[in-house]
Amino acid sequence: MAYNLLKGKKGIIFGALDKKSIAWKVAEKAHEEGAEFILTNTPIALRFGQLNELAEKCKAEIIPADATDIRDLEMLIQKSMEVLGGQVDFILHSIGMSMNVRKKRVYNDLSYDYFQKTLDISAVSFHKLLQTCYKFDAIKEWGSVVALSYIAAQRTLYGYNDMGDAKALLESIARSFGYIYGREKKIRVNTISQSPTRTTAGSGVKGIDGLMDFTERMSPLGNATAEECANFTIVLFSDLSKKVTMQNIFHDGGFSSIGMSLKAMQMYNRSLDCDDCPDIE
Ligand SMILES: NC(=O)c1ccc[n+]([C@@H]2O[C@H](COP(=O)([O-])OP(=O)(O)OC[C@H]3O[C@@H](n4cnc5c(N)ncnc54)[C@H](O)[C@@H]3O)[C@@H](O)[C@H]2O)c1
Repeated sequence: MAYNLLKGKKGIIFGALDKKSIAWKVAEKAHEEGAEFILTNTPIALRFGQLNELAEKCKAEIIPADATDIRDLEMLIQKSMEVLGGQVDFILHSIGMSMNVRKKRVYNDLSYDYFQKTLDISAVSFHKLLQTCYKFDAIKEWGSVVALSYIAAQRTLYGYNDMGDAKALLESIARSFGYIYGREKKIRVNTISQSPTRTTAGSGVKGIDGLMDFTERMSPLGNATAEECANFTIVLFSDLSKKVTMQNIFHDGGFSSIGMSLKAMQMYNRSLDCDDCPDIE
């Protein structure tokens, strides 16, 4: 059901690759809620993804940009303002990638070239985006910027590797820029810390199936789906959350606040001495 929460609002959505992408769901919801927006991704993702289909459905224009490249970002922001007829109300940063994860380089054997890329793509790109928007005064007063994060920013999760460091930096950038943007332009900057979700990026995380099963069982409300994440993102874009800024908001069914659940306690009591548990790599 749509509520016209974004009626008349304009925005830019980064990171829709295919139907599983969280950004894809956000774009569908934003369209349903009355927004007009630009879709953007890297030229290579545009070649291999299915963005044209989404653009057609949402009547959105696609503008390619590598979010680590300042010139691309400048072109994107200027062109978006031309197409949309002025400043934007909302921006979604839904970007993450680690070559260390892809190439199975574990955390105590990282390639530092890859590590730099992880940080640049998954975190510094957020600063580059915000700084470019600031330079062109591209966001309207009371606008809202959201980036997607993960609990590995605060806790160590087996297999998440250098993406945990990237998410910690991403959340810090949201706070630091959120202060400046709030003080000077009344613009909100937040991160949503989403449950593990089976997307292209999510599926790259080592042991994603076990992780999702664990968080599903440990969260009193269960894992949050990509659709539910999109709904929450729409609320943060809307005027219903005007005084929420510089926050990292857990959207995870309660997982982040659980220490021990009843189910986990029962399991633990049953298999306390796990002598024949298989070794994991
Ligand atoms: N899937 C999960 O379990 C999960 C959980 C919490 C947070 N997140 C975060 O959600 C966000 C979206 O990921 P997703 O799960 O929808 O996966 P996804 O693979 O669909 O999206 C990742 C996107 O990043 C884009 N991207 C990569 N490098 C880029 C660059 N240089 N410039 C511009 N775009 C680039 C990709 O093309 C892709 O569209 C990421 O920040 C991810 O870390 C995902």
